[in-house]
Amino acid sequence: MSVAEQSIAGAEARGHGFLASSVGRKIVMAASGIVLFGFVTVHMIGNTQAYMGAESFNGYAKFLHSMLHGGGIWIFRAVLLLATGLHVWSATTLTLDNLAARPVGYRAQQNVASTWASRTMRWSGVILAVFIVFHLLHLTTGQAHPAFDHANPYANFVSGFKVPAAAAFYIVAQLCLGLHMWHGVWSFTQTLGLSHPRYESLRRNFATGLTLLVVGVNISYPVAVITGFIH
Ligand code: HEM
Repeated sequence: MSVAEQSIAGAEARGHGFLASSVGRKIVMAASGIVLFGFVTVHMIGNTQAYMGAESFNGYAKFLHSMLHGGGIWIFRAVLLLATGLHVWSATTLTLDNLAARPVGYRAQQNVASTWASRTMRWSGVILAVFIVFHLLHLTTGQAHPAFDHANPYANFVSGFKVPAAAAFYIVAQLCLGLHMWHGVWSFTQTLGLSHPRYESLRRNFATGLTLLVVGVNISYPVAVITGFIH
């Protein structure tokens, strides 16, 4: 059976329709990716309050928890959870389909660049998933924090990054986020049909600029605590 026939057989085995097709799941992956990248960008901007001091940062955290009488953060968490679930589901099923359609692998004519990029997406995605679980236990619920104080997010931020291993893990995770975001922004602009040669440099500059901004500012937080700039 040819590769194309095997892909079609795989889609048929799962049933027909938008979500059974690889194009449909790529659109789901792109749309959920846009929501997640939007969140990461807004989160990075919100955290700049740490540079304004304890009062600003804690005031910002309080605002997030009191939006719509406390319901706002739960709506936001539900959207984020749904986007994460759809993103992981579409990525995993597309990866499994790809592996099933190519049991022996190509030889010399394989497109090395795109394979490297997609492999990078897989392991950077897995490291990001581990990071998100750790991050929630560290700065939201406190089980992975040495001195968590529910009433003082700023103190949690500072004492959390004073632990070198935690700061180092944040930095490594942000580098993975950078790889994932760069290729992800590049891919979703293509999935959305913006791969015309006229937009090529715009897409590249957008992906590079957004990634460098988010990763650079995010890495600055643990670095600012370790160097004593934020204390
Ligand atoms: C160095 C970079 C980062 C810092 C300093 C940081 C800081 C924080 C802090 C302080 C909170 C707790 C807010 C509160 O409860 O008041 C938080 C929550 C959260 N962060 Fe981050 N964050 C960083 C990067 C990231 C990244 C890269 C992601 C996702 C890929 C992320 C996802 C989340 C999520 C999902 C929450 C929970 C929001 C909620 O309460 O539902 N963070 N972050």
